[in-house]
Amino acid sequence: MQELVYLDNAATAFPKPQCVHEYMYEFYRSHGVNPGRSGYDLCLETEEVILSARKALTAFFGGTDPARLTFSYNASDSLNMIVQGMLGKGDHAITTNVEHNSVLRPLNHLQREGLIEITRVPFDDRGIVDPGEIERAIRGNTRLVVVNHGSNVIGTVQPIGEIGAICRKKGVYFAVDASQTAGVQRIDVREMSIDLLAFTGHKSLMGPTGIGGSYVGEEVPIRGTRAGGTGVRSAYPFHLEEFPYRLEVGTPNTIGVAGLSAGLKWIQEQGMEQIHRREMRLWVRFKEGLEKIPGVVTYCAQSAENHIAVLSFNIQGMDAADVGTMLDVDYNIACRTGLQCAPLVHEQLGTDKIKGTVRVSVGPFNTEAHIDQALEGVAEIASVRKG
Ligand SMILES: Cc1ncc(COP(=O)(O)O)c(C=O)c1O
Repeated sequence: MQELVYLDNAATAFPKPQCVHEYMYEFYRSHGVNPGRSGYDLCLETEEVILSARKALTAFFGGTDPARLTFSYNASDSLNMIVQGMLGKGDHAITTNVEHNSVLRPLNHLQREGLIEITRVPFDDRGIVDPGEIERAIRGNTRLVVVNHGSNVIGTVQPIGEIGAICRKKGVYFAVDASQTAGVQRIDVREMSIDLLAFTGHKSLMGPTGIGGSYVGEEVPIRGTRAGGTGVRSAYPFHLEEFPYRLEVGTPNTIGVAGLSAGLKWIQEQGMEQIHRREMRLWVRFKEGLEKIPGVVTYCAQSAENHIAVLSFNIQGMDAADVGTMLDVDYNIACRTGLQCAPLVHEQLGTDKIKGTVRVSVGPFNTEAHIDQALEGVAEIASVRKG
């Protein structure tokens, strides 16, 4: 059997850089205490690791105040806090068909409770949302626009700077789901007028699972939606309003923060643009290889511009799930099939009727040989099907 080829990096990056594993191991052995709770040296040093991670991520995203860089479990957790903390009765929210369920579902819950109205803007043939359509959807009661920066199904990158400028002009808050782009695409919250940015640690930021967060701009009146321990001002009967406490409760995931900061450091050493360029070279190799295989259809993959290294395809006449199983069992290739938690992308593409797509997603440790092994598998499956 050939060696495992992991092409499911949009689900989570794997493997992680060795330095991430090593740093987490050393950190937890030496600093596995509860930060911010006491005054002994080890506690203060652990708190310092968290603070320096806040500072590094704030600078990485172009923010100004490290206290507003708050940690959570993952992007879903932060997006729930953003949606619930920004919207209230009578508000209108605008989102897009490229969203993941971690945006769609929190919004849908508020809509089901009769609290908000939602407009969902489609994407064009290239998989890009027209900022003008978002502008035209803004009404008097529009409070929040939420956009997925990079699609986890078709890999297209949305023009968030343009959308941000429109939101700023119209006085509407702008939230970005950077789950797939943080770590491979430049994000500058001030330059792009992003009021709320949600990220996850375990994808292109190269950290472990269970850590993510958000950056909330200075003028953004997000409500805290949780309450609990903060380690400070314990006699106060309510949860603290000041940042970072407003969006953080209980003991933090210190080992996760440590791993995330090691991942970020690794990206900065490698160079984010170099990582992205390398991944896209492999994406182009895969796409061009697929285009030579009769019966293969790709989606919104016309160009490598405004793209991350995620590609969806189908073999005509076959279920995506069956292709995925054959790639796994017969060729030892790990990828993802189905609707990939983004049902509206498939509804718009019509792939919901054929149970979704096969999604291949490239990471920094993939090679040309991996891509060729995957192409060989797809070609054989397609030819057997045809035969
Ligand atoms: C675009 C997008 N948004 C949100 C998420 C949710 O990320 P997490 O599972 O880390 O919360 C994902 C994960 O696949 C994603 O691809």
